Amino acid sequence: MPRVTIPMLVRKHESGEPIVMVTAYDFPGARVADRAGVDMVLVGDSAAQVVLGYDSTVPVSTDEMLVLARAARRGTESAFLVCDVPFGSTEISDAQAIETAVRFVKEAGADAVKLEGGSEPRLSRIRAIVSAGIPVVAHLGLTPQTATALGGLRAQGRTEATATRLVREARGVQEAGAFCLVVEAVPAEITALLRDELRIPIIGIGAGEADGQVLVAHDLLGITEGRTAKFVKRYAQVGEDSAAAIAAYAAEVRSGAFPAPEHCYTATAEALAAARAELDRGRAERLDRGS
Ligand code: KIV
Repeated sequence: MPRVTIPMLVRKHESGEPIVMVTAYDFPGARVADRAGVDMVLVGDSAAQVVLGYDSTVPVSTDEMLVLARAARRGTESAFLVCDVPFGSTEISDAQAIETAVRFVKEAGADAVKLEGGSEPRLSRIRAIVSAGIPVVAHLGLTPQTATALGGLRAQGRTEATATRLVREARGVQEAGAFCLVVEAVPAEITALLRDELRIPIIGIGAGEADGQVLVAHDLLGITEGRTAKFVKRYAQVGEDSAAAIAAYAAEVRSGAFPAPEHCYTATAEALAAARAELDRGRAERLDRGS
C-alpha cells in the first residue's frame, strides 16, 4: 500500500470518501491499524489514560509521548501518522510550540502534529508550526487537555455561547493553516454546519456524520475498563478475552498442563550424555573436597 499523503487525504475529502483515523500508541497497535488499512494513525495523548494509567491527559510529558510515537512510527508503513502535542508543551510561546513539533517530526517521524484549542494564542501556535513546515491537525469541541476550563468532560456546541465559539474557532484554525480538524463531542447538526463552512476535512469523534471518524483503539477494541463515552462503539471484547487467556495460562501452569511436549525442545542423546557426565564430574569433585 502506498504511503498516505496530504494530497491523498485532500482527494478523499473532495470525492466524499470518508477518512478513517484510529489511535495507536505502540508497534503492534500501529501494525494492526496499518494492516487494517486506516488512512491516519493518531498517537493521541489519550495514551496518558489508556496506556500509562494517568487519570487525565494532562500529566503526560513530551518525552513519554515521544517513546510511544517512535514505536507507532515503526509499526506504520502506509497510514499518515499524526502525533498529539501534550499539554504544557506548546502553551508558553510560539517558539516552544515549534520546538515541540519539530521534536515529533525529527525524533518520531510524525507526518503531522495535533493541537487542541482555537483561542487566539492557539491560532498563533498553529500559524507558527505551519510556517515551520509542519502540517497541523486542529482539535476543537471537547478538548480534554483543558476540560477543567470547559467545566468537565462534556459535549460542546450545545449552548448559544459554545456553538458560537466553535464556529468562530473552526474558521480560525482553518485560516491559521490547519489542514484537517478533529471535532469532539459536538451535536451532529453543528458538525454539519461546520462541514458546509470549511474547506478542510473534519474528522469527528462523537460529532455525528463528518468527513471522517476517529476512535480510541482501546475503546473500540473493548480494552478500556468501565464506562466509556456515549460516542464509543465497541467492536470487540479484547480486554475480557485477554483476561480469560491469561487466566487459562495461569491455571495450566499451576496444574502442570503447560508446557506440553510440543512446547519443549529435545536434546540429542550425545548432548544428554555430555550433560550427565558433567554433572557426575562435579559431584565427584565435591565428594573429593568433602563438601
Ligand atoms: O488523544 C486522543 O486520542 C484524541 C482523540 C480522542 C481524537 O485526541
